Amino acid sequence: MNRIESLLDRMTLAEKLGQLTMTAAGYAVTGPFIAGDSTDAIKAGTIGNLLNLVGPEPVRQMQRLAVEESRLGIPLLIGFDVIHGHRTLFPIPLAEAGLFDPASWALTAREAAREACADGLAMAFAPMLDVSRDPRWGRTAEGPGEDPWLAVRIARAKVSGLQGAALADAESLAACAKHFCAYGPVTAGREYASVDISERTLREIHLPAFAAAVQAGVAAIMPAFTDLAGIPMTANAALLRDTLRGQLGFGGVLVSDYNAIGELIRHGIAADLAEAAALALKAGVDIDMMADAYRRGLPLALERGLVTMEQIDTSVRRVLRLKEQLGLFDDPYRRGATPESSEQLAQRRKLARSVAARAIVLLKNEQETLPLPPAPRRLCLIGPLADAPAEMRGPWWAAGEPEGQVSVLAGLRAALPGTEILQASGVAIDEPRKAGIAKAVELCEGADAIILCLGERATMSGEAASRASPELPGQQRALAEAVFKRAAKLGCRVIVILFSGRPLIVPWLAGKADAVLAAWFLGSEAGNAIADVLTCRVSPSGRTAITWPRALGQMPIFYAQRPSGRPANPDDHFTSKYLDVSNEPLYPFGHGLSYGRFTLQDLHLTPDKLSEKESVEVQVDVTNAGARAAEETVFLFTRDKLASVARPLLELRGFAKIALRPGETGTVSLSLAAADLRFLGPDLLPVFEEGEVEILVGPCADRSQLLAGTIRLCK
Ligand code: NOJ
Repeated sequence: MNRIESLLDRMTLAEKLGQLTMTAAGYAVTGPFIAGDSTDAIKAGTIGNLLNLVGPEPVRQMQRLAVEESRLGIPLLIGFDVIHGHRTLFPIPLAEAGLFDPASWALTAREAAREACADGLAMAFAPMLDVSRDPRWGRTAEGPGEDPWLAVRIARAKVSGLQGAALADAESLAACAKHFCAYGPVTAGREYASVDISERTLREIHLPAFAAAVQAGVAAIMPAFTDLAGIPMTANAALLRDTLRGQLGFGGVLVSDYNAIGELIRHGIAADLAEAAALALKAGVDIDMMADAYRRGLPLALERGLVTMEQIDTSVRRVLRLKEQLGLFDDPYRRGATPESSEQLAQRRKLARSVAARAIVLLKNEQETLPLPPAPRRLCLIGPLADAPAEMRGPWWAAGEPEGQVSVLAGLRAALPGTEILQASGVAIDEPRKAGIAKAVELCEGADAIILCLGERATMSGEAASRASPELPGQQRALAEAVFKRAAKLGCRVIVILFSGRPLIVPWLAGKADAVLAAWFLGSEAGNAIADVLTCRVSPSGRTAITWPRALGQMPIFYAQRPSGRPANPDDHFTSKYLDVSNEPLYPFGHGLSYGRFTLQDLHLTPDKLSEKESVEVQVDVTNAGARAAEETVFLFTRDKLASVARPLLELRGFAKIALRPGETGTVSLSLAAADLRFLGPDLLPVFEEGEVEILVGPCADRSQLLAGTIRLCK
């Protein structure tokens, strides 16, 4: 008999339920403690998994209780939210998505896994794969942005980066993709609210990234807190069991979200903990995080005949198998056994700096305001985020300490030692006081440039951080207006650096600033990365992975809209538009400038007639007509104009990057398989339809900037 079956044979019901339970650990001033009586429960074998316990020593202590003091010696599985780095923080996922670089996505995940493993962890509750088209939703910050095709690429890269070559490696984490499924379209962008979308939207937009994670071998998946058309995901047997396990072939562990099984009662589909536990178990949820519903509810559910011992055993087997795959039975102390060298840490900081610099999106740059002149005499740095190191971490900072994060002020001081840098906050991020504005404005006198650092607090995005009006909070607009006014009198340029976990609605600001950078939240090396871009050490190359709306009422807004029978026409009243604002976003998906000036020409499609088994090679020439070396991102979209189901106006199918010196021309080649142009037909089954498909290539999802050609699909 193998190890798992022989253990199962010997396990009591309480021990089995322990393997299906995950409890949080916390920290007291003197060191780690475990909530309630969990220490005894670990020794008794009735708690088998922990979250939020970090550090080699605390992990070793708890692991020792499980392995050496419990009857069966089953090791603990310990997980943590390693979302964008562990101690060293990389840019938030929404920002990193804008790199459009799978190798970098995988590399930051790999480094985060190494660092987390050195802290004794074995599971990351990541990657977060929820497509979001509504910036009101705070969790937009943690995800891949608005596009399902992009989310698929990110899913693959992150799973392979976190899990490494083999789960058993001491530097590999089990990835837990989340939140399955369709958490992003919560009603009105309000956290934890109900979701009600079509089956088509579910399958076209929200499932593909999870399917990709499964194909990439993801070890675990977490169901979303939310309900989908009345069925909470934690109990959604149709989606968890039939779609995820059945159709997509997921054989790993389903970990509930925090207390989500208990919350089935509040959702109104379970009368008590026994019913809630039974619903979740039958849907295939293996681990109960923090509700204690399995330990308290399943014995009752068994008595009432709501579940069977076989169903419990199936889940226990999955958990034990994952522990086995992670190598925990062979050596429970392998993670956290070897401290990392200072060289490893220094290399990781270097990576954090370069990825952060590449995640910055240059939204606007009038009259080449940026980069800064080589040796400015005096800079004036204003705003509540100018010297706010802890905020640079963004939401989900894992074990990233508030100290050790580089602020904009620190980064600029290091990069420009000969420059006088004056700094004032002016206002707090979200307080009503305006008293500091006048003093801050005075500082502008005599500056070569004014840099305004504005935006959200880190905790204004992430979980439970929906904002009904995602604009600049507090009195920051008043501060900015006062600075613009003074700068106009002084004839001084104003550069705005925006920090946020989402696109902010700032059309007025975009109108007045000379240059605007979206810095999102860039992580530990934020200030150095920003200085790199401002001083031209790095030419900006980030592209926004989400559309920036110009008005609140445009949301949800995304580039892949379906055509209307009455497309917007300013001369025709009865067309699809607003009376009070244009349909166009402030910045489209994919937008981002550089210090070069790129033009695209000569689009070639070979062949231009193809069958389902063939591919078309797309080639386009790119010239850097600017005065500085820079990198351009070229996007490939398609438009299926005539199909049995109306297709979106644009669909992302590829991207490529090209670095060019001033005056240089290069060719970008992308291959597109005709089979990828299949779509879900009227019956939601994949179809390949004959006919013309437009191929559109260019710098972003603004149709007016795209070169177009046509291919013909034939059977
Ligand atoms: C709740 C969040 O929804 C989830 O993403 C996270 O992994 C868990 N809490 C654990 O912190």
